[in-house]
Amino acid sequence: MTLLQFEGVCSAYGSARVLHDVSLSVSKGERVAILGRNGVGKTTVVNTCLGLASMQSGRMAFLGRDVKAVRTFTAARSGLSVVPQGRRIVSNLTVRENLILGGAPQRKGRWSVDEVFRLFPILKERAETPGTAMSGGQQQMLAIGRALMSNPDLLILDEPSEGLAPVVVDELGETLVKLASGGMSILLIEQNFGLVHKVAERYYVLSKGSVVEEGKLAGLSMETLKKHVAV
Ligand SMILES: Nc1ncnc2c1ncn2[C@@H]1O[C@H](COP(=O)(O)OP(=O)(O)O)[C@@H](O)[C@H]1O
Ligand SMILES: [Mg+2]
Repeated sequence: MTLLQFEGVCSAYGSARVLHDVSLSVSKGERVAILGRNGVGKTTVVNTCLGLASMQSGRMAFLGRDVKAVRTFTAARSGLSVVPQGRRIVSNLTVRENLILGGAPQRKGRWSVDEVFRLFPILKERAETPGTAMSGGQQQMLAIGRALMSNPDLLILDEPSEGLAPVVVDELGETLVKLASGGMSILLIEQNFGLVHKVAERYYVLSKGSVVEEGKLAGLSMETLKKHVAV
């Protein structure tokens, strides 16, 4: 089943068009990456899903149904969870409260506060501290845990490695692999090729708002990497 599909999507902020004729898809159980340098429109793909950038033409479908957008405030209960760029942990809420914020009571599944604590034991230890009092790596765990709380059909992560030390990025990779082997479908937006290599099986390269290359990860050339991400 196709979870997310873009077909010839053009989208814009006001009159400023950012995405040009973008086609991509993520099927159930897949781990797909979007690669590309700063400013090429990666976050705008997410924003288009959420209706924060407006789709001017083309077609977008989520869970097989055509949608204009999966609005931010209904995304969790629709089955779409986003780990936003910069993590956006709520500063005056504790770790536990930040997790609860991600819940969608009408969605059934494996994930709960206790289950997130099993995945990330450090979050349990720090459950009653303010979310933003933790390290970058721990905040990223919290952002992922919060996203899992709604038992999503699709988990989108927007540059989760940003600002993290290499050893923490390795741990993040292991977490994502673990989630994927548990059946989670993942759309990973990244510039860190190591992380993409560990997690994804298929990729799209964005450049200036267009998909310029796509394929299986095994076929991703050094040339492409040098051109489109820093390695
Ligand atoms: N809210 C916004 N309003 C207007 N322009 C934006 C907005 N967000 C991003 N842009 C512009 O859209 C382009 C793509 O940005 P973005 O999708 O954030 O790129 P990336 O995530 O690949 O770094 C950039 O030129 C950026 O300046
Ligand atoms: Mg971005």
